Amino acid sequence: MTKKIQIALDGPAGAGKSTIAKIVAEQLDFTYIDTGAMYRAVTYKALKEGILLDDAQHLKSMLEQTTIELQPSKEGQLVFVDGENVSAEIRSNEVTANVSQVAAHAAIREILVEMQKALASKGGVVMDGRDIGTHVLPQAELKIYMSASVEERARRRLLDNEKRGIESTLEGLMKDIALRDQKDSEREASPLIQAKDAIFLDTTNLSIDEAAQEILKLAKAKMV
Ligand code: C5P
Repeated sequence: MTKKIQIALDGPAGAGKSTIAKIVAEQLDFTYIDTGAMYRAVTYKALKEGILLDDAQHLKSMLEQTTIELQPSKEGQLVFVDGENVSAEIRSNEVTANVSQVAAHAAIREILVEMQKALASKGGVVMDGRDIGTHVLPQAELKIYMSASVEERARRRLLDNEKRGIESTLEGLMKDIALRDQKDSEREASPLIQAKDAIFLDTTNLSIDEAAQEILKLAKAKMV
């Protein structure tokens, strides 16, 4: 029998994590968990309720009164906030521009990290984020840190946005991505950093399928 391992997939915005994680999870019959969607869900609700994003206490009490559910589906992971399907809304430019500020609060991270640990506790998961290998699942059997050049990541986001009907330009996206990388790497609470025991995968010149195959090979070696 093969082991139901935990796979931690970290890296900056647009490195291809979610697309690749989905393929890997599907091939292994594992559950895919997109932790960025949880930070986005909190940001979405805070913006909707007009809560100041630097008010950690207020955000924390809001989150304590909020239910966030992740549901796998054919179109990818669906996200529900207080029972409402917000899977499309959490990808808006407004949420994207503000999510790093919300994710920088230690009080918010503590709550979401507990939820993430619980979701992964039975194993058989591919979890993507920024701090999975370092904080959420430090005992994960396989840790990958995935990156690509800023230009390549912006190009991918542009195509993604076109598909979703979100307007953007390559230049604007390069700026956004570089800024979000900086905020995520420089914050005090669980910054974006490669875990010591993570394998680095540069996807700049890899197709989605090549990157997924590489991870599947590494995963299968850990599952015997
Ligand atoms: O992965 P995605 O781009 O949707 O993540 C949105 C934001 O959520 C990131 O820029 C980061 O600020 C935050 N995040 C985080 N820790 C995670 C996942 C996402 O801080 N594990």
